Amino acid sequence: MTAVYSEITNDYKVITPQDAKNKRVLIRVDFNVPMQDGVIQDDTRLKRVIPGIIALAATAKQIILVTHLGRPKGNVTASLSVLPLQDYLTSALHESVGFVPHSETPSALSHSIDVSHKIWLLENCRFYPGEEQNDIKLAKAYADIADIYVNDAFSCSHRSHATIQAITQFLPSYAGPVLAAELAALANAMEKPARPVAAFVGGAKISTKLSVLENLISKVDKLLLAGAMANTFLAAKQVPVAASLYEPDLIDTAKMVLELAESKGCEIILPIDGLVSTSLKEGGEHHIRANGMLKQDEMILDIGPESVALFKEHISQCKTLLWNGPAGAFEIAPYDTASKSLGEFIGMRTSQDHLISVAGGGDTVAAVNLAGVADKLSYLSLAGGAFLEWIEGKSLPGIEALRPS
Ligand code: 3PG
Repeated sequence: MTAVYSEITNDYKVITPQDAKNKRVLIRVDFNVPMQDGVIQDDTRLKRVIPGIIALAATAKQIILVTHLGRPKGNVTASLSVLPLQDYLTSALHESVGFVPHSETPSALSHSIDVSHKIWLLENCRFYPGEEQNDIKLAKAYADIADIYVNDAFSCSHRSHATIQAITQFLPSYAGPVLAAELAALANAMEKPARPVAAFVGGAKISTKLSVLENLISKVDKLLLAGAMANTFLAAKQVPVAASLYEPDLIDTAKMVLELAESKGCEIILPIDGLVSTSLKEGGEHHIRANGMLKQDEMILDIGPESVALFKEHISQCKTLLWNGPAGAFEIAPYDTASKSLGEFIGMRTSQDHLISVAGGGDTVAAVNLAGVADKLSYLSLAGGAFLEWIEGKSLPGIEALRPS
């Protein structure tokens, strides 16, 4: 995905190299990447923002990158230092990147940055307790080292933190190219989608996705439900689910969701069969069972082949699809079968220009990668919580802060 620059999108300004000309540009990025003993395990998030940083560095006086890593909760934590990213960035940006270590007093930040480097990486902003407190003084200390601020971290924009929200009070603030592309893709899928539009939602629990479901029902024409969450809906429809994971306390909630969907004209599609076993282990004995045909000690661990065919049929009728969550216990084979098969199908329909597909949130990236279709979807969001909050219909403080008051 390449960085796209446009003057104004909606009511926030998207940074252009011209805006950055001769300025010190502080960019909030999300370099919260899996790291083990200082070795980056997955650089997908890094790769995505690199082209935008290079483009801005071409005109800017200085680029200062700020990110969090993990959840140190205001404590300096050696294992969560972002120092290991310095070499990676130096090589990816083709420019020697300076590193600013943590200093107890945030105002000291301004003494650490000099002309010896054009691009600087600041130590983990969550080493300061003020970051998560959206502290004004900390935000001001960051603002003092720059002329303009860019948020290119959609995945952090659900947090009211100093480097996401408070800082926008002190500097002219812009959306970064990746954040802007993300918002445009999400708007295409939900605000003004080509219809019919479907949402395919998997995952274990209704309790964690209730607001998502409620919001989607009023936006989409079809809601395809999978994962253990679908079991609670089956139970609500009096379909016995035997030993399957489900939420008995939420059966009434599931009934309410079904009724709401009916009243809004949203068709809910549930699995009609499952891949079942008596235990969740790799390559364990498993069977395909139609709904209601499970033995007492069996549990549904993936949706079955008839359900996959049914879901594909519904997806074929749609022009837009929003995908969140795997279809089953996809970390363990063969319960990854439906996620793979549906992922491949969604990728194929998208490549053939029959479908606009947007996927994201939690385990979805792993499910998309399992199907090997990351580059075939119209847009793959790398955000977890922020993606979910967005599809819940919540406004994200980091995005709100970019709108001119
Ligand atoms: C993420 O990984 O989803 C973002 O980096 C946000 O991290 P957080 O949930 O710790 O705020």
